[in-house]
Amino acid sequence: MTGSASLDQLRRCHIAVDLGAARTRVFVKGAGLVVDQPSVAAVNTRTGSLIAVGEFAERMTGRTPGYIRVVRPVSGGSVVDIEMAQRMLRHLIGEKLRRALRRKPRLRAAACTPHDADPLAQRAAVETMVGLGARRVELVDTLLAAAVGCGLPVERPEATMILVCGAATTQVAVLSLGSIVTAERIAVGGDAIDHAIVQHLRHRHELMLPSQSVRPLQLALSGNGLTPHGPTSTEIHGRDVATGLARSVQVDTAAVRDAIHTPLTAVLDGIGKVLRDCPPDLVADLADRGIMMVGGSALLPGLDQMLRDATGMPVHIAERPDVCAILGLGAMLEGRIAPMLLDPLSG
Ligand SMILES: Nc1ncnc2c1ncn2[C@@H]1O[C@H](COP(=O)(O)OP(=O)(O)OP(=O)(O)O)[C@@H](O)[C@H]1O
Ligand SMILES: [Mg+2]
Repeated sequence: MTGSASLDQLRRCHIAVDLGAARTRVFVKGAGLVVDQPSVAAVNTRTGSLIAVGEFAERMTGRTPGYIRVVRPVSGGSVVDIEMAQRMLRHLIGEKLRRALRRKPRLRAAACTPHDADPLAQRAAVETMVGLGARRVELVDTLLAAAVGCGLPVERPEATMILVCGAATTQVAVLSLGSIVTAERIAVGGDAIDHAIVQHLRHRHELMLPSQSVRPLQLALSGNGLTPHGPTSTEIHGRDVATGLARSVQVDTAAVRDAIHTPLTAVLDGIGKVLRDCPPDLVADLADRGIMMVGGSALLPGLDQMLRDATGMPVHIAERPDVCAILGLGAMLEGRIAPMLLDPLSG
């Protein structure tokens, strides 16, 4: 079950994976983070063969002839196509490492799964790793892995709050004494925010912008960009919806803020729910320590300031937010986390 793996069992694992909706990350004990690539595979539908995985496959999105299909085996935070996930992982891990792992007589793997992953999603994560040769698979709640990975003092009695901003989901928890006190998973992440911006440009400015091209707009709005303290407008390049010709427009930043209001409200509601469910003594700790943001979408320019404004709490972004969860798992594998009074993962 998620979160039920003990530290002892995790120390016996050789490999850890974080199969995300956007990216796949693999940590090998003794070797560190060896894979950090888009969770994408390109398949030849005529022959069924794999053409590319990771970055190469992602670059093919929307550019392939009819017989090549670009697929994402992970969706909404869980593996939806087990066979494809296995094939993708095999290619990402590479022949050399695969051979080294095959030499382990009893390969043990760890995987993080979203908080509250249902039994089917847990099963899919386990089966994916079994297909790669694992004899045993330990599952760890992403919230705990990420909290360990960003160095939060999870084992202490003071409460801390973590916000995992992924592509498909946002997860938030209050942690104390190594376990989760209250938590929420919200089915909205960076992808929903990108999508809202793309839709806004299409409807308001008749400008086409592929999802991958949203980043320049976000960067233009960096710093205080997405808050009322930022610039009032910014120029953005795309293609005209009707003619397909290149065009640039002045985009009103207040309108962009408005466009992403719905997904952000969902995130704020989740934070509010966790705070309401949290014992009052712990809420006092949180007011001092604030919220630690991790996950790739924590890098969304202005998101931290927006949360600061909305919650009145201090908000911090972890040092390497996108890889916190996998590095946390790695630290557990390598026994680099202090033995605790309470077993942190049995909550
Ligand atoms: N510099 C950046 N600025 C804004 N957004 C970013 C940046 N870097 C990554 N992202 C966004 O972060 C998301 C990916 O985050 P992450 O790698 O944590 O996702 P994931 O773990 O694959 O997803 P999930 O945990 O939801 O399954 C994407 O939506 C991506 O657009
Ligand atoms: Mg993730």
